[in-house]
Amino acid sequence: MLKRIAVKDIRIGMFICEFCGSWMEHPFWKTRFLLDDEKDLHAIQASGIKELWIDIAKGIDVGAAIPGKTEQEVAQETDALLMAAERAIIGEKVSLDEEIQTAAKLCAKAKEAVIEMFTDARMGKAIEVEHARALVEEISNSVLRQPHALISLARLKNADEYTYMHSVAVCALMIALARQLALDEEMVREAGFAGLLHDIGKVGIPLKVLNKPGKLTDAEFSVVKSHPEVGARILMESYQVSPMVLDVCLHHHEKMDGTGYPYGLKGETISLFAKMGAVCDVYDAITSNRPYKKGWSPADSIRKMAEWSKGHFDETVFQAFVKTVGIYPTGSLVRLESGRLAVVVEQNEGSLLNPKVKVFFSAKTKMPIIQETLDLAQAKGKDKIIGRESPDEWGFKNLDTLWSGIS
Ligand code: C2E
Ligand code: SIN
Ligand code: FE
Repeated sequence: MLKRIAVKDIRIGMFICEFCGSWMEHPFWKTRFLLDDEKDLHAIQASGIKELWIDIAKGIDVGAAIPGKTEQEVAQETDALLMAAERAIIGEKVSLDEEIQTAAKLCAKAKEAVIEMFTDARMGKAIEVEHARALVEEISNSVLRQPHALISLARLKNADEYTYMHSVAVCALMIALARQLALDEEMVREAGFAGLLHDIGKVGIPLKVLNKPGKLTDAEFSVVKSHPEVGARILMESYQVSPMVLDVCLHHHEKMDGTGYPYGLKGETISLFAKMGAVCDVYDAITSNRPYKKGWSPADSIRKMAEWSKGHFDETVFQAFVKTVGIYPTGSLVRLESGRLAVVVEQNEGSLLNPKVKVFFSAKTKMPIIQETLDLAQAKGKDKIIGRESPDEWGFKNLDTLWSGIS
């Protein structure tokens, strides 16, 4: 139930739905969230917003501190409400649109946390595992609400932040893939944790090799090939990581045909989790911009990976991955039968060939058209995707703004 309240009455534990006034005036990416952070509370009080809407079904009400109750009673009630509200938020599926701002904020926060972890590892300090676990929990919840928001945002990265954002991206991809494979929630989080830490051994590679703008020499590549073992050693020293996390770190570059490294393991001697790691790692690596090459589009990348699939990846794991990100992943440029060009916004579970798309351009007249979001699963018989298109060949620069709404 929604209630309009004055800003002076807000308290930790309220579920905020909307700020009154222009969104330009308020300091938040998101407008629907559980107020559980003192800093957010102060930011709202300082923002100049006078009133806002709260949902008292999902958080506490203005009258929650009823006179006559002890502080302890009130605190207990608030805690219970907070937990219920958290559960409600966690369980609730939302659209890409609704999740994108939360995911953007989380991406930025996760990147900082990964930089900290890598810096600690580089200096020989033990990684703060509890901090990383809390982060994985938040990423896991975002992916549960809407997998494609965080996954697609983490794909967009500058070449120089690659190593860090790649960890965040592989974490999110591992979580979504683990759920697709019907693993239990504890395993889902372990898979995410493994994704976050899989490349920690890259701290052992000199930055001038890692960020080299060209192809690596054989000598440089052999240094690169040490990163799984360097990583496993770092993780063993900071204890508390499970064998599964170690396994992914050590074996994410093994290939099914035995041509991978460090051990040249073959087929079924590679664990399920390492196989998942290999698929998620390569997808994010090839869709990302690097100092030595521009990223491939997500739909092209899925196509290429399908071609390599036999020698490199486990077929079953790869198929589950495609179900997770889509055949035309969020952000893909596609041509519709009607001659319109569109960018893929959201996937339709159970109808991978018919996602939700935003049309914005006519391939016939070569002119922009009025933007409109179409659910191709609903529009069956009216319009459909006939193929992938190259954003570079069309010269589209702002494709990512079209699906994310973020410029
Ligand atoms: P990474 O960039 O995170 O890539 C992870 C894996 O994704 C690669 O493991 C490879 O299996 C796949 N991958 C990435 N880019 C491509 C590509 O353009 N084509 C194909 N077919 N596969 C790709 P790999 O090859 O063992 O490389 C390990 C790491 O070595 C890479 O991690 C990257 O940090 C570095 N590296 C590899 N090649 C180059 C290069 O040409 N220049 C530079 N500067 N670094 C490179
Ligand atoms: C790769 O080079 O990483 C993919 C090609 C393959 O392994 O067959
Ligand atoms: Fe790696």
